[in-house]
Amino acid sequence: MPIVRPQRARTSSAMRELLADVRIHPRDLVLPVFVKQGLTEPVPIPSMPGVVQHSIASLREEVRAAAAAGIGGVMIFGVPSVRNRLGSGATDPSGILPVAIRAARQEAGEDLVIFSDVCLDEFTDHGHCGILGKNGHIDGEATLATYATMAVLHAGAGADAVGLSGMMDGQTAHVRHALDEAGFTATSILSYTAKYASSFYGPFRDAVESTLVGNRRAYQMDFARQREALRALTLEAAAGADMVMVKPAGSYLDVVAKFAQASDLPVAAYQVSGEYSMIAAAGANGWIDADSVAGESLLSIKRAGASIILTYFALQAAGWIAAGTL
Ligand code: PBG
Repeated sequence: MPIVRPQRARTSSAMRELLADVRIHPRDLVLPVFVKQGLTEPVPIPSMPGVVQHSIASLREEVRAAAAAGIGGVMIFGVPSVRNRLGSGATDPSGILPVAIRAARQEAGEDLVIFSDVCLDEFTDHGHCGILGKNGHIDGEATLATYATMAVLHAGAGADAVGLSGMMDGQTAHVRHALDEAGFTATSILSYTAKYASSFYGPFRDAVESTLVGNRRAYQMDFARQREALRALTLEAAAGADMVMVKPAGSYLDVVAKFAQASDLPVAAYQVSGEYSMIAAAGANGWIDADSVAGESLLSIKRAGASIILTYFALQAAGWIAAGTL
């Protein structure tokens, strides 16, 4: 007969709850939202069942729902009506992002943290995160200047934090300087410190209607590497990042765990579109129980050490937490 029986720690639901190492609170969750210029009604995104492109009016409703659910915040992505080589829609003061951020800020008041995406892939006709030089490679300096303009516009529209998701060298220092010069010293920077060149972003292309020409391996992280992410963490922390992000989340929990150990900055992890869609699709086929798989995936991200989780399941998860199933 065994004397030590680890199963005694699992005997009842009350015992399991008592002994849980981690829990998710709705405030840990950030809901990414897509807002499309010129829409009057929300439009479903076929490859992301349950997720829509919002109009400004439906964004307002979603933001109210997010505040009512008590989640931590929203991350706003813009879908412009025109795209071009330089992504000029991104720096238009009356472009989709400033307008959407302003609307979200009005609805949210102080109840939610409003994040905005500072990146060019939604705005360029080639789908890259930056401006391409004559040689077809990213022109880092031109891109940073555009990011700085975007960030200042977003801060002026009421964003609490700008999400730098392009992985340009020097982006945090450059944008920090621009924000401070413009008087936005209180606006935070969420640095996508470890954004991998991943195929898990596939459905996001549908969501923002952009086509990526080629790939991003020359400027985003190689998924065969982990130590490089730690180097980026050191650099971004020194440059003034207020929060650091690992993206995607599920296949990169080792990186999340390393970040949580190595840094005293808040660590965010992004459960990206492909992760969402895989769970939703398998659930729709009856192959898995999508809700419990989603809950399990979110809990693992928290267990790995993330204190902020970006997920398209945020509102549902708040409901599961309220119902006691997560
Ligand atoms: C860049 C950005 C993307 C995501 C977050 N910020 C798209 C990309 O890099 O391709 C992806 C999130 C997702 O796939 O859900 N604008």
